[in-house]
Amino acid sequence: MLERARHLLRPSARSAVPPFMVMDVVAAATRLEAQGRRIIHMEVGQPAAGAPASAIAAAQAALGAARLGYTETLGIASLRRRIARSYAEWHGLDIDLARVVVTTGSSAGFILAFLAAFEAGDRVAMALPGYPPYRHILAALGCEPVGIETTAQTRWAITPELLLAQHRARALKGVVVGSPANPSGTMMTASALGELIRCAEDAGIAVISDEIYHGLDYAFAAECAARISPETIIINSFSKYFCMTGWRIGWMVVPSSLARAVERLQQNLAISVPTLSQIAAEAAFDGRAELEAVRHGYEENRRILLAGLPAAGLDTFLPADGAFYLYADVSRFSSDSHAFATRMLEQAGVAATPGLDFDPQRGGNFLRLCYAGAREEIREAVERIAAWLKG
Ligand SMILES: Cc1ncc(COP(=O)(O)O)c(C=O)c1O
Repeated sequence: MLERARHLLRPSARSAVPPFMVMDVVAAATRLEAQGRRIIHMEVGQPAAGAPASAIAAAQAALGAARLGYTETLGIASLRRRIARSYAEWHGLDIDLARVVVTTGSSAGFILAFLAAFEAGDRVAMALPGYPPYRHILAALGCEPVGIETTAQTRWAITPELLLAQHRARALKGVVVGSPANPSGTMMTASALGELIRCAEDAGIAVISDEIYHGLDYAFAAECAARISPETIIINSFSKYFCMTGWRIGWMVVPSSLARAVERLQQNLAISVPTLSQIAAEAAFDGRAELEAVRHGYEENRRILLAGLPAAGLDTFLPADGAFYLYADVSRFSSDSHAFATRMLEQAGVAATPGLDFDPQRGGNFLRLCYAGAREEIREAVERIAAWLKG
């Protein structure tokens, strides 16, 4: 009996997704901190600032007053209305409330989107380098992730030609785009995004647009895919611009044809999204002044890094248009970014993420640095990296 149970408890094949290497860096940094070292954290992609005061006040008030039961599966109506309104305010778009779905972070949005739009076995493309969970969630759901290697030639974006080349080889059912992108911060221009979406939809390929870094665009304005097509699935979150990673709250704007399917899935997978987080998220829209100050801090950090790192020896990055990442080419120093990140952590006390997380083939030559931290720490990181690379 015991022997049989042992066999039953073997992990499924679909659970065999690769780990997120950045967590190994976090663990190593934590060990060094326990030994008394002061580490500058540029590995994890999250804002150093907390939720805006308006969000915290709303949550505190709700803790004392509200029952905090389940909410409607699609989310509290006033929050959904507030999200829809933000599209009118920020993009001049009239979004039908029926298309707005509140989710448990954008991470849950991806699961809902992939389940609603794809069958097991469907091929779905995404750019390499790119955010690893796109590939890993799809694989866990039985879909086939198709990484498309991007280069400087296409400004590190999937172009219609690259997409159609894959589609001709074997039909694609979907493509995930992210602009600004993780790990690079590189953005697609409005025309590049428009051309890709139109080409994909003409070919019958569904588009999922990850807009989690919207609001954090410095080089030019990020384009919202909803302005291009109402058939695109948009994924967004309160984690980045709104500084609410731990509240685990995000949203989707789905094509009308998928709204009921997404609702049914979320009814079964989650019932509803944490109520306290929904209340706080609605109030977060009133914290714009505070959030814009945080954004200006990122812009300043970006300026410090782009001015200081080349002199330190790191001078090649993918276009750092937005988000809060630099994706640095370290091939002058190493083709093993994991070993390079480990040495930089141990010797310079700066934690960064090896590119292998984001691009299994070419990531050995790259390192991702997150600049969402405090300005003084970013300055010190430049000094530490310079001294280390020179020493
Ligand atoms: C590109 C991208 N999409 C999605 C996520 C997931 O964020 P969350 O689930 O906190 O909304 C992240 C987190 O780092 C990200 O970088």
